Amino acid sequence: PLPATQIHQMLRQQWGDALLRRLHGIGRIAANLGTPAYLVGGCVRDFLQNHPMPDIDLAIEGDVRAVAEACSAELSGAQCTYHPYFGTAILRYPDGFQLDLARCRIEHYPAPAALPEVQPAAIQADLIRRDFTINAMAISLDPEKFGEFLDPYGGRTDLQRRLLRVLHPHSFLDDPTRILRGLRFAVRFQLQLEASTRGLLEEALTQNIFARLSGARLWRELKYLLELTDLPAALEELGAWQLWPLLRPTPLEVEPLLAKIRRGQQEIHWFHRHFPDEKLCDAAVLLTILWRDIPWAAEKRLHYWPVTDGRYILNDLHRLSEIPAALAKASHPSAVAQLWESLSLPGILALLAEYPETDTITKSGRYYLLKQRGLTSPLNGKDLQAMGLAPGPQLGKVLRHLHDARLDGAIKDKETARQWLIRQGILPSIQP
Ligand code: CTP
Repeated sequence: PLPATQIHQMLRQQWGDALLRRLHGIGRIAANLGTPAYLVGGCVRDFLQNHPMPDIDLAIEGDVRAVAEACSAELSGAQCTYHPYFGTAILRYPDGFQLDLARCRIEHYPAPAALPEVQPAAIQADLIRRDFTINAMAISLDPEKFGEFLDPYGGRTDLQRRLLRVLHPHSFLDDPTRILRGLRFAVRFQLQLEASTRGLLEEALTQNIFARLSGARLWRELKYLLELTDLPAALEELGAWQLWPLLRPTPLEVEPLLAKIRRGQQEIHWFHRHFPDEKLCDAAVLLTILWRDIPWAAEKRLHYWPVTDGRYILNDLHRLSEIPAALAKASHPSAVAQLWESLSLPGILALLAEYPETDTITKSGRYYLLKQRGLTSPLNGKDLQAMGLAPGPQLGKVLRHLHDARLDGAIKDKETARQWLIRQGILPSIQP
C-alpha cells in the first residue's frame, strides 16, 4: 500500500502547495466538526496516473452543509453554495478554483435502471456503491492521518494492470449508464474489461437493460462518448462491447464508417479554422453515424433522445441523399447555394465527410460556407419601400430574387441592384 507520507509528497508535487493548504484547511475544519473529509472518485484515479489537475470531489462523513459553511466562514474568501435536494455543496475560492462536496452515502436501486434512493453512510460503504474499482479509492484529509490511502477494492492494482472491474454483480443492472461510462474510461485510460465484468456486461445486454433507461439519460452518455478526443477508438470499442445497436439498429462496417468520421473531423477542423467564433454542435458526427440507417429507426431515436437541434438533423437525414444529384444538375450559383442552404451546418459537414477533400462536392460546400453563406442583398426591405414598393409577401419575394441575383453575379451594389430591378420591370424606369 502507498504510505500516507508518500501520498502527501505526491500531492504537493502534482497539485502544488497552495491547493494542499486548502485541503489541509478543509480537513481540519471537517475533523473539528466530527465529520471527516476525503478526496474521492475520479480525482484520486487521475492523481494516481499523474494526469493534469482534475476536478476535485470531496466526500464528507456527515453533514456537508455544516462543513461547507464552516469552510466558507473560516477560509479566506471561499464562498459556499449548498444544494439541499442533492445534499451537495460547492466551495468557490476568489481565484475561481472550486471543489465539490458530497455526503458519504449508500444507494438503493428500487428497480433496475431506476434512480437510486440514498442514505448517509461511512466512507467504506460509500466506496462500494460506486461504479468501478478505479473510481472507488479515497485519500483522507483528516489532520491525524492526512494522505492515508483507502483502496479496499484494489483500484490501484486494476489501474496498473489496465483492468476495468465493477464492484458488485448488480452494478450494470442498477445503473446501465455505467456501461457507457465504463466504455469511456476504457478508451481514455486504455483499459480492458476484466473477465467477470465482461460476463456481467453480456448478461445486462441479454436483459435488454438499456430499454429501461430514459432517452435523456442515454443521450447524455452517448453525447459524452461522441465528444471523446479519440472518437475512432471509442467507436471501435463500441463494436467490441456489442453496443452499436444503441446508436443504430442496422449493423455498420466499422472501418468505412471510421474513415468517414475521420474525414468529417478534417472538415470540422477546416470549419473551425475559418470560423473560429462559430459554435458547432457534435451533430455532424451523429449524422454520419445515422445516415442511411432505416429512416424510421433513425427518426425514432431522434425523437427519443433530446438531441439539440434534433429537428434539423431529421430534416437533414431526409435530404442528404438527394443533394449530390441535385447539385450536379444545378445550373446557377444561386441554385447551388439554395441546396446547401437547405441543410443545417452539421448536415453540410456530414455530406462533405462522404467525399474526398478534392471532390467537386467538397469544393462546392466549402465555397458556399466561405463565400455564399454570408452574402446579403445590397438593398434591404427598407430600401425597397423607400423606392415605392409596398410591404408584404411580394416584397419578400423581391428580396429573395435580389439575393439570388447577387449570388449569380448579376448585381454587386445598391446601384447595380436598382438597375437590375428596373430591367426586371419591378421598378419603373423613371423614378420620381
Ligand atoms: N459514479 C458512480 N456511478 C455513476 C456515476 C458516478 O459510481 N453512474 C461515481 C464514481 O465513483 C465517479 C464519481 O461518482 O468516480 C464521480 O463521477 P463523475 O464526476 O461523473 O466522473 P469522474 O469519475 O470524476 O470522471 P471524469 O473524469 O469523467 O469527471
